[in-house]
Amino acid sequence: MDGNGRWAEMRGLPREEGHREGSTSVREVTRCARRVGVQALTLYAFSSQNWARPAEEVAALMDLLREYLESERAEILENGIRLNAIGEVEKLPRFVKEPLDRLRADSANNTGMVLTLALSYGGREELAQAARRMAEAACKGELTPAQLDTQTFESYLWTNGLPPLDLVVRTSGEQRISNFLLWQLAYAELCFSDVLWPDFRTEAFLRCLAQYQQRERRFGLTSAQVKREDSHRAKA
Ligand code: FPP
Repeated sequence: MDGNGRWAEMRGLPREEGHREGSTSVREVTRCARRVGVQALTLYAFSSQNWARPAEEVAALMDLLREYLESERAEILENGIRLNAIGEVEKLPRFVKEPLDRLRADSANNTGMVLTLALSYGGREELAQAARRMAEAACKGELTPAQLDTQTFESYLWTNGLPPLDLVVRTSGEQRISNFLLWQLAYAELCFSDVLWPDFRTEAFLRCLAQYQQRERRFGLTSAQVKREDSHRAKA
């Protein structure tokens, strides 16, 4: 969700105002995703590296997160959304962690869209914690090197239980990954939008989904193989 700072600076506003306007995009994109039947939506709201931003900006983001968790609570529960979080959430201040934990617990049995907030999240950090926990399991004799295939590896990731990643959208014209879902990206489609996140609303999101629908996902196969598989599936 990139471009909040630039959106604000272009208007002579403090960066925090860009994040605030970005929260409205969060609400709109989440509603749209649910309406069109997205199974799982993951929002990169705060990275492991974002802690190093100026203290006032970090504080403003934490305030916004708390506000969001309180103001969206009813809509999330009413719409059967399951709120989930990935990252080193124990690093969050108590005034964010508490409403987060409460909403996670209260929505745990919901079966609609899974809305995951990536908070204090880093892809490398996720891989390192997975390796650490696998090493611990190996030391205890609970995991052998031969058991360590891609499926077992995935079960140690914070995203364990989420469906495979289909599409990653990065806003604001930047074309990089910035430590997001590094393992899960393997076969994801990428969409880079020039729109700044605070302006990224329903129309911009639907444009990305339309682009995604035009892609041919081959997962290492040839185009002919994929077409054959598609036609078999259509006949079944
Ligand atoms: C990156 O843009 C954005 C962030 C670090 C924060 C994203 C947070 C929100 C959209 C609001 C709060 C989130 C929720 C879930 C309510 P940037 O600040 O790096 O933008 P810039 O590149 O233009 O400076």
